[in-house]
Amino acid sequence: MMRSRPFIPEHFTHLYGSVEYDGMDGVRRLRYNQLVGAMAAEQFLAFEEEVIYPAVAHLRRNAAHSQDHDFMWRIGRMMVEEREHARMFLGLLRSAMPSIYAHRDRHFTRLRPLERLVCAVCARTPPGNLVLMWLALVIEEHSVTLSKAMLVPVSGGLGVLDTDFVEVHRRHLLDEVRHLPLDELLIQRSFDRQPLWLRRLLARLFVAVLRDIATPKRAARRVISHLIHEFPDLAPRRKQLLRCTLQGRRAAPDCDIADLERHPRTARALSARSEFADLLHTIAPGGSSPAFEPLSHRTGRIAAILVLSPLASLGYWAVGAAVSSRTHPTGLLETALDRALPLMPPAILVYASLGAFLLVAAWGSSAKSCRRLIQASLTAMALSYACFIVWPVAVDRGGLPGTEPWHSLFAAVREMDPPHNSFPSLHVAYVTVALASKRWPWWVWAWGLSIIASTVLTRQHVVLDVAAGVALGVAAWLLAGRWPWSGRDREIRG
Ligand SMILES: [Fe+2]
Ligand SMILES: [Fe+2]
Repeated sequence: MMRSRPFIPEHFTHLYGSVEYDGMDGVRRLRYNQLVGAMAAEQFLAFEEEVIYPAVAHLRRNAAHSQDHDFMWRIGRMMVEEREHARMFLGLLRSAMPSIYAHRDRHFTRLRPLERLVCAVCARTPPGNLVLMWLALVIEEHSVTLSKAMLVPVSGGLGVLDTDFVEVHRRHLLDEVRHLPLDELLIQRSFDRQPLWLRRLLARLFVAVLRDIATPKRAARRVISHLIHEFPDLAPRRKQLLRCTLQGRRAAPDCDIADLERHPRTARALSARSEFADLLHTIAPGGSSPAFEPLSHRTGRIAAILVLSPLASLGYWAVGAAVSSRTHPTGLLETALDRALPLMPPAILVYASLGAFLLVAAWGSSAKSCRRLIQASLTAMALSYACFIVWPVAVDRGGLPGTEPWHSLFAAVREMDPPHNSFPSLHVAYVTVALASKRWPWWVWAWGLSIIASTVLTRQHVVLDVAAGVALGVAAWLLAGRWPWSGRDREIRG
């Protein structure tokens, strides 16, 4: 049965105070409030499980030799409490909204697979987890602000808050006020010990991430979609409701986790560090953006390619190592055309320029086409790895060129590039995907086609690998457009 009380103070909801909110009746306002309250609880749950716990666990492991037993004990206790909070919030959501949470933990805050991967990697590896410690501080302070507001008696509006929500936030508050000094201590013992250049870099990254997560996006949009799912008469107002919800951080300052005026502890910690000195003004809504930006900006796209490339190389190398013992006969796909083509040692430079080519493609494409480029590259990667495992055909590459520097360059490339990961050519598939992502000027086409030609002129591949690589690239590009999370939100299912 639907609960009859609001889950969160009204001023912590995005629509509060807008014309659209004023135009809704009490029943619809109440349900909107409950959905936002559930979303906020989910966000704490998600953050504690996916960010705070793994990041703190990693820092604790690194400090295992510490003689400060009190510190170690408090960190251990914090981790136990975070686990308990996650259980508490999930239990609350399941009892308050069984129709949504009976069979799932997340409804509004589902992460895309790529986001989940980046989050998991960052939480477990330095220096990513140092950025997450700053996020832990600001988000835990925000949770304290919200929990305190939940305890203030309400009069008027939607009336008294749901007692279960108040009780869970009260219990959360008791622990979180103790976590805040610990977050600061963890920052002192990890972040502050890094060299200045790294602290500056991490500070920019933190500010970019903070600005990004403070801006209402998918979760807030899903709240509106769910509201319309329950009250179809609101469907004609969808555009206006979304516009009010997503118009930015200024519209609902109480929801703004990056508002430093509402988070004095974080503000003090940031102001005390010189690496944030020229960044503080950029945190405010409407402040100019710092050098690192989310994926929707150029530097964010470059960062995404730089993060993904080593992961892709690691997978490529692992698949090659796994199939090396059961390779099919070498040179199986070699044709007369391959035998007629000359070996051109300088082409190895073009072959090795694939990374730079993809960076240029990410730099020059729009946010939307870059997202599709990344999705298509991941699709091509997955399909080709499956092919390498099922059918590990080796290329007969012949001996190394006799003269330097080509001898050393070929040796280095072949060291990283096993001969059995050859059909289809991933080099060619990546170039095909990049060329498909927008209308490129002639020199980008010339560069891309040169990379494709270099795969056979260096004997890294045969012509049939190239043909299969083009087909794979085209297929991956078309499939990427159909990824369920590539465009609009998925349909809400009741
Ligand atoms: Fe917590
Ligand atoms: Fe906490």
